[in-house]
Amino acid sequence: MARKLGFGIIGCGMISEFHINAIGELSDKARLVGITDTVRDNAERLSSRHSGLYIFDSVEDMLASRDIHAVCICVPSGYHADIIYKAAAAKKHIMVEKPLAITKEQLDEIQRVVGENRITLAVVSQLRFAKDINRAKYAIQSGELGKILCADMYMKYYRSQEYYDSGAWRGTKRLDGGGALMNQGIHGVDILQYLAGEIKSVFAFSKTLARKIEVEDTLCASVEFESGAIGVIQATTSVYPGYPRRIEINGDRGSIIIEETALTRMDIDGHSSEDLTFRPAFSSGSSAAMNISGDYHTLQISDFIDAVREKKKPAVDVIEGRKAVDVILAIYKSAREERRVFIEELNPKPNKHYC
Ligand SMILES: NC(=O)c1ccc[n+]([C@@H]2O[C@H](COP(=O)([O-])OP(=O)(O)OC[C@H]3O[C@@H](n4cnc5c(N)ncnc54)[C@H](O)[C@@H]3O)[C@@H](O)[C@H]2O)c1
Repeated sequence: MARKLGFGIIGCGMISEFHINAIGELSDKARLVGITDTVRDNAERLSSRHSGLYIFDSVEDMLASRDIHAVCICVPSGYHADIIYKAAAAKKHIMVEKPLAITKEQLDEIQRVVGENRITLAVVSQLRFAKDINRAKYAIQSGELGKILCADMYMKYYRSQEYYDSGAWRGTKRLDGGGALMNQGIHGVDILQYLAGEIKSVFAFSKTLARKIEVEDTLCASVEFESGAIGVIQATTSVYPGYPRRIEINGDRGSIIIEETALTRMDIDGHSSEDLTFRPAFSSGSSAAMNISGDYHTLQISDFIDAVREKKKPAVDVIEGRKAVDVILAIYKSAREERRVFIEELNPKPNKHYC
């Protein structure tokens, strides 16, 4: 496909700005055709901030346009699935914000409709495009750390009550799908599995300790990886002032620590300290939702465009994108039922049985 990919953006809130900027930076292969929002004022505000973007009257109106080849879905998480079904039926390619969806039933149905309609769907997991994260992945895959024994994700963020009150969907079961873990912690869960491999089972505690919301603001889980390694997933949005998310991976020959997207410590058996990487961590989204870098959205949307044009898999397709949600849903189930839960209970692997 030599022509530019025509994009529409659905949902004109906070994250839509990142998609607009990314498409603008990729103007050699992409074109923003228009935007839409159920709240007309939100679309008009966004349009005026970007020198008059075209506003479609509705999602249906946008999906009917032949100039639209792909949509970026930037609406509250609980609406992702319904819009994916519509866009897939209209044969539009889809870049959907995280989380892909918030229930097992939605995830299964998305997997079905995407396959049936033969469209490309990518889930925003922008941190996978950070250089240091990929340096860490290389260290693990090439055996620099030896056998991986422990892999942990600690996210101690701060979101005020005002943050949760700023949108009627925030902190609700139906539309946020969960709290600290489903909304903010999902990035860390995704990167933890990207680096240390798939999680096999979990055991969790989940509480709402400080905010007036329906979902958890503080959670902790023990996790077991398919490889046999064990670890911790901790997610809170209630601790002041909020600290950079830490991912620690420890092997029998070396260890790495990542703070947000920076590799801040790397200790490898037999290497002198000059070889080690130390960089100051930046706070990123630890205390404010807007403080995230737009660079990774640009890299991931570029990967999505290439996947559509070259008819290949995007870096984070449905299968990859649902992995973090499967783990999060297993963690919620474990906390509710006060027992160890296997990921296979939510997403059975073909030809494998669990008792
Ligand atoms: N990748 C990241 O780092 C990141 C960061 C923030 C948010 N997000 C995700 O982006 C999504 C949106 O979050 P946000 O913070 O931009 O929310 P927001 O509340 O700021 O904006 C959502 C917009 O969607 C509109 N909307 C709601 N239902 C709609 C529908 N059916 N059709 C069209 N428009 C509709 C709302 O009117 C609103 O303007 C969420 O799923 C969130 O998890 C991702």
